[in-house]
Order: sequence, then structure tokens, then C-alpha cells
Amino acid sequence: MSETPRGWGVFPSTGIPTVAFGNQKGGTGKTTATINSAAALAARGHDVLAIDLDPQADLTKGLGLGPGDENDASNPKNELPNTLTTDDGNLLDVLVDNPRTHDTALSEIVVDADEYDHLNFDIVPSHKDMGLARDWMDDASARLSLKVALDELVEEGYTYDYILIDCPPDLSVLTDAAFIAAQNVFLAAQTQATSRDALDDLWDQLESIEDNQQVEIAIVGLLANMYRDDGQSQKFLKAFDESFASMAPIFELPMRVAIQRAWDNGCDIFEWEDSNDQQVERDVFLEIAGTMKRAFDKAEVEA
Ligand SMILES: Nc1ncnc2c1ncn2[C@@H]1O[C@H](COP(=O)(O)OP(=O)(O)O)[C@@H](O)[C@H]1O
Ligand SMILES: [Mg+2]
Repeated sequence: MSETPRGWGVFPSTGIPTVAFGNQKGGTGKTTATINSAAALAARGHDVLAIDLDPQADLTKGLGLGPGDENDASNPKNELPNTLTTDDGNLLDVLVDNPRTHDTALSEIVVDADEYDHLNFDIVPSHKDMGLARDWMDDASARLSLKVALDELVEEGYTYDYILIDCPPDLSVLTDAAFIAAQNVFLAAQTQATSRDALDDLWDQLESIEDNQQVEIAIVGLLANMYRDDGQSQKFLKAFDESFASMAPIFELPMRVAIQRAWDNGCDIFEWEDSNDQQVERDVFLEIAGTMKRAFDKAEVEA
């Protein structure tokens, strides 16, 4: 990895701070971190776009724009459209140049937060067709497709303060496309034994992208997620600390049932209210948002 100073961001060609939330392991908290960091940045007054690059579409579903909940008639998701099955242009059409798909610009599929009470930031939803992305994005230009789409979005006049990208749980071409477009990576890992190896593999992937694509990539943070107050979590936090603390800030998010409940109800943790206090979760993400802002402010001053 290149020597980006600790906690500094890199500006991609759009000039907009862009962060990809990655880890090829599933269930580590990538989607949770993307949704709630976006919400925290929005709560701090920033204009944010969140992109759901995962064919599993958990970000889209977690913000209510997937299928409703047939087991719960009162679930607010039931009232919202299912963007995953729309016949209009979708994210695969944006990323892939294929005769079956028509030309679609990213701007055509942005869901405007102003149209929905529960949304605090714009989103680019995933789609059922995204399952074909890995087969269709098989040439080198596909790795650049998201970067090109974001450049075009900005040329069209879209302005955001931050763009956050939720990656699929793999090291596929989609994840490469996210890392190349963003140039800043935020890692979400669980405080458990298998995390270390996954992060080593991810590291190799980032190095190979830097070498092959001649781009600089910065690590802007690590979420040590589902942290429990036990020996196992402590041990892995120490290991994370030894490997990453010199490179990027580490944030701890404990196991909190409200995180899951907010997702189930199609909203972020700043929208979600139950009888418990959600301040612990909100504070972690506000801290991430503040640190992210400083990472790019520093880089801007230096530029
Ligand atoms: N800190 C947490 N406390 C409780 N549940 C969590 C926490 N972080 C994530 N989850 C839940 O764990 C599951 C996996 O998280 P998710 O963000 O979807 O992971 P990934 O995107 O890496 O696959 C989701 O159901 C999510 O709601
Ligand atoms: Mg996910």
C-alpha cells in the first residue's frame, strides 16, 4: 500500500470525497456502516449519496426500497416501492455495455431523498439484475465503469459532499470497481478469529489494484463491529490495534439490537426510535462522520 498519511483521504477525479465500505466476508457490518455513516454525515448537514453495489441489495432493503414484509402488515416497508424489480433502467445498465441493456446514466436511477420522509440521503439502489454483473463485467474497462459513471454524474451538475459505496461480500470485479471509483476504503470487521485472514486478503487486493490501475488508495477507518465485552473481543481489538492503528482510526460498535431493528423497519439509526436509547449507536456513527470529514479536510489543505 502507498504511504497515505494516517487517516487522510484521497480525492478521486470527481473531487467528491468517496468511500467504499469493504470486506469480502459477509455479515461484518459493511451495509450497516454505509447506511449509518451516510445518515450521520447527513445529520451533520452534508449532502450524501449512498450507492448499493451489492446484488444482495441489503442497503436498498434496509432503507425500505426492496420487498415489503409480508409477515408484518404494519411494517413501513410495505408502503414503499420495490426498486429491486423495476423495469426501468437499473445499476447493471449503468455499469455494463451489453446489447440486452440500454444506455442508462447514473443520474436516471438516483432516488432523491426529498421524495421520501424517511430518507436522509440520496441512494442508488441495487436491482435483481445485479446478480449478472460478475458474468458481464469481465473486461478491464468494467473495473472503471463506476468511476466513469460518477464522473458523468458530476459533469451533469450533481453535487454531493460525500459518496459512500456499499460493496458486496467478495473480491469480485464489482468490489474492484468500487475501490477504483472511491479510492478510499473503510473496513468493517467483526471482532473474531476469522477476521484477521480476511483483512490480509483484502490488503493484497488493494495493493494489486494500486499496482495494476495506478491509483492511490487510502484506508480511512476500521469498524470493529459487534464488539462484546469479553476476552475474545478484547483479544481481537488488540490485534486490530497492532495492525491498523498506525494506519487508520478504529471505531468500536457493540452488539446492539436497535441496529437490526432499524434495518428491519427500513430506516437508519437516526430515524429509528424505540423505548431504548439509541445514542450509543448514533454517537459511534457521528464520530465516524466527524473523522471522515477531518480526513478529507486535511487532504484538501495539503493539496
Ligand atoms: N453492531 C451490531 N449489533 C447488532 N446487529 C448488527 C450490528 N452490526 C450489524 N448487525 C446486523 O448483522 C447483520 C449483518 O450486518 P451487515 O451490515 O448486513 O453486514 P455486511 O454488509 O458486511 O454483510 C445485519 O442483520 C445487521 O443488522
Ligand atoms: Mg452488506
